[in-house]
Amino acid sequence: MNSLSNKRIIIGITGGIAAYKSAEILRRLQDQGAIVKVVMTPGAEEFIRPLTLQALSGSPVHTGLLDEKAEAGMGHIELARWADLLLIAPASADFIATMVHGKADSLLGAIYLATSALVSVAPAMNQAMWCHPATLDNINTLVKRDVDIIGPGNGIQACGDTGPGRMEQPELLIEQLANRFTSGKLQGKKIVITAGPTREALDPVRYISNHSSGKMGYALAAAAIEAGAYVTLITGPVNIAPPARCAVISISSAEDMLDAAMLEAKDAHIFIATAAVADYKAVSVEAEKIKSTQKTLTLTLEKNPDILSSVSSAYQQLFVVGFAAESRDVQAYAQDKLQRKNLDVIIANDISRQDIGFNSDENEVSWIDKDSSTLLRKRNKTQLARDLIEKIATAYRSEQLSDA
Ligand code: PMT
Repeated sequence: MNSLSNKRIIIGITGGIAAYKSAEILRRLQDQGAIVKVVMTPGAEEFIRPLTLQALSGSPVHTGLLDEKAEAGMGHIELARWADLLLIAPASADFIATMVHGKADSLLGAIYLATSALVSVAPAMNQAMWCHPATLDNINTLVKRDVDIIGPGNGIQACGDTGPGRMEQPELLIEQLANRFTSGKLQGKKIVITAGPTREALDPVRYISNHSSGKMGYALAAAAIEAGAYVTLITGPVNIAPPARCAVISISSAEDMLDAAMLEAKDAHIFIATAAVADYKAVSVEAEKIKSTQKTLTLTLEKNPDILSSVSSAYQQLFVVGFAAESRDVQAYAQDKLQRKNLDVIIANDISRQDIGFNSDENEVSWIDKDSSTLLRKRNKTQLARDLIEKIATAYRSEQLSDA
């Protein structure tokens, strides 16, 4: 199977003479087994008719941000969530500037802001416009945001100039896109990921919980899917949407998470425990609401089962990755958990910091295994998750080889 097979790709077409080549890109992506939707800016419609692309793609072309029909069916947020990859081809100088400034005045601009998919951009413009410092600065900004820039090619341009600025040839463009997917580093593997907090009931209205938002675990799920894995996400209550194309098991308590984890890990290859499991639960849950008339309230709590330890001792063949949330002596406590919980890897974060860890968009972690410790400096959780999945895939493969 090639790495574009079954990938959901949005081609965003902006205004430029190269827009006619988008039809060929669409066709080639479909030939590779990708599922493609088309979004056009008003400028693009001046160069190629939506009907042409609709006929080729077999589904409606999305054009307007405020299109009632589209918003009721598949609006900008749904499209943003649907995609594995957003390809903007051709990307005009103007649209590149729009991306840099985060403007959402077109459907395509709004999708770019709302998506957590990979983003690739194939610039196409006059050579002088491409070489202008403003455009080059804009391109640098996009590169820093992990946008992949494809081309541009060099040669004679539609305006008669010669130089860089032509949209990259469709076959080279497709090749570079295919490389964006880690081409199945985890192809066909089953990965179970726990995420979010658990809630331990005290009575019908109250519970013990913590500040986990699920962002780290959900980002790992998305990155594992990108790498070709089948992902089961066992999640506590959070306010974010799970990535498309993963099996989701929603739970509330640690006991529920344990049951789901034991069942799902049975035929899995890799288990990643990102969840912040409540360490204690009430010895008995009150059937009626606890009255607030008493001045003090004493709760008797007991230890919850350790999900990670239970999974790692039940399934010896599993590659098990834990997380350690520490507020001091991060390395030492994480090392202790690596051994005590019988893990292959532990990923430690300092949760005393406000800018990383719980409920933030960024994280900085130490990857600790039996032989080494590596710091992955602060970056957004989407990027960090991709880097971690890359390392997990490599470590998993080398363990498989040494066991063989
Ligand atoms: O969800 P976010 O807002 O994005 O925040 C991410 C995070 C801070 C929650 C995440 O990066 C993280 O550190 N997760 C682990 C949280 C935690 O509970 O750590 P711990 O050191 O208490 O537990 C160690 C490991 O044992 C964890 O993998 C945990 O999932 C697991 N555990 C803990 C207790 C328990 N009863 N069962 C478990 O399986």
